[in-house]
Amino acid sequence: MAKLIIEGGRALKGQITVQGAKNAALPILAAAMLIPEPVRIGNCPRLTDVEHMAGLLRALGCRADWTGDGLVVDAGCARTAALPEDLAGSIRSSVFLLGPLLGRFGAAEAPYPGGCDIGNRPVDLHLKGLRAMGVKVDEASGRIRCLGRPRGTEIALEYPSVGATENLLMAACGAEGDTILVNPAREPEIDDLMAFLNGAGFDLRREGSSRIRVRGGRRGHGTAHAILPDRIEAGTYLVAAAITGGHLVLRGARKEHLSALLTALKEAGCRIRSEGTDLDIEGPERPRELRRLVTLPYPGFPTDMQSQVFALCTVARGTSVLEENVFEDRFRHGAELVRMGADCFIRGRSAVIRGVKSLHGATVTARDLRGGAALALAGLRAEGITVVEQAERIDRGYVDFAATLRQAGAAIRREDD
Ligand code: UD1
Repeated sequence: MAKLIIEGGRALKGQITVQGAKNAALPILAAAMLIPEPVRIGNCPRLTDVEHMAGLLRALGCRADWTGDGLVVDAGCARTAALPEDLAGSIRSSVFLLGPLLGRFGAAEAPYPGGCDIGNRPVDLHLKGLRAMGVKVDEASGRIRCLGRPRGTEIALEYPSVGATENLLMAACGAEGDTILVNPAREPEIDDLMAFLNGAGFDLRREGSSRIRVRGGRRGHGTAHAILPDRIEAGTYLVAAAITGGHLVLRGARKEHLSALLTALKEAGCRIRSEGTDLDIEGPERPRELRRLVTLPYPGFPTDMQSQVFALCTVARGTSVLEENVFEDRFRHGAELVRMGADCFIRGRSAVIRGVKSLHGATVTARDLRGGAALALAGLRAEGITVVEQAERIDRGYVDFAATLRQAGAAIRREDD
């Protein structure tokens, strides 16, 4: 068990370099399973979720070795299509392996990913798409058993699920014939996965914003790919500057992937300038309220930034309203922030946050990855000492979170029991 101990009240100042995106690294690592030759995945963040995915690949018989900032995966010697229960249960993205395993072996078996800490997260859209591709899917006894080589077809997603889009694209690469995915997710991580697969010899193209065409029947070959910068990590540090009235330069950020967040931060009173891949942010002494912020699939405001912005709103001058439209149980940080003096009211998918002049330190618990990061951000602003317990949850999405903030002037340390 880990905890973060934060002494609040210091404005952040300095530079932070953005790491590779977790949500691109995970599907790209899974996609390596499609390719019977070594691939190098550079700028790969060394996160617990990434280590778990590498562990899953090894359990399936692949080699996965770190060299410098990258993981080299060789799926040439993969020998099984069944994921072990103990490892696969630990991260939801193990479900991403269904598509590539089917594409490669025409068979895949994984434990049911089940619910998780931000709400019930079904995989019905993934499985419906695979069935449409002619795969036999059996969901009895808590495991998902898939059989049959996918066949290209047209699949219309009723919701642009990120994971389902990625899984079906990977299955489609190994399919016979062309697949057209209608209403796919538009997140930048999807494009990064497509760039990786195209670099490995597959053929995936967006046709406008609402279709992706994948040509089937190709064999993948070795390639090298660098993961795109993490927009959620970048966004979290932008909020760290905003909430402390600090001044940070984020290096290697892609501002075009952060539009909805940058709009919200400007509304809150931040000054933001960009030059090349540097983003320079100056936070206000006290943020302005966000009158109505709604999370939506990309390019809408990302659900993965909702908790951090929630923390910002707790110290705003007025009342903010946040609406969570992507996950049904993603306001658990609200009750923790109340322990620190926040004034908020949550009903269903909406939160009304009346800004208070100051928060005070308290012992709080990271209930999920982004919610945990949000509590640490609130702690940077609060008067006195904040202790964030179960901070290992934050490790799932941030490389050296405490050390990065410390290097920007925060008084934060980590203790591991
Ligand atoms: C991915 C991201 C996660 C982010 C989310 C939304 C990764 C590893 N994780 O998660 O950080 O918060 O996108 O941007 O990339 N749904 C169904 N049936 C399905 C699939 C999804 O009902 O088969 C629902 C989910 O319950 C949720 C919504 O669709 O309410 C969005 O989920 P989805 O876009 O699939 O997110 P993930 O891929 O799980």
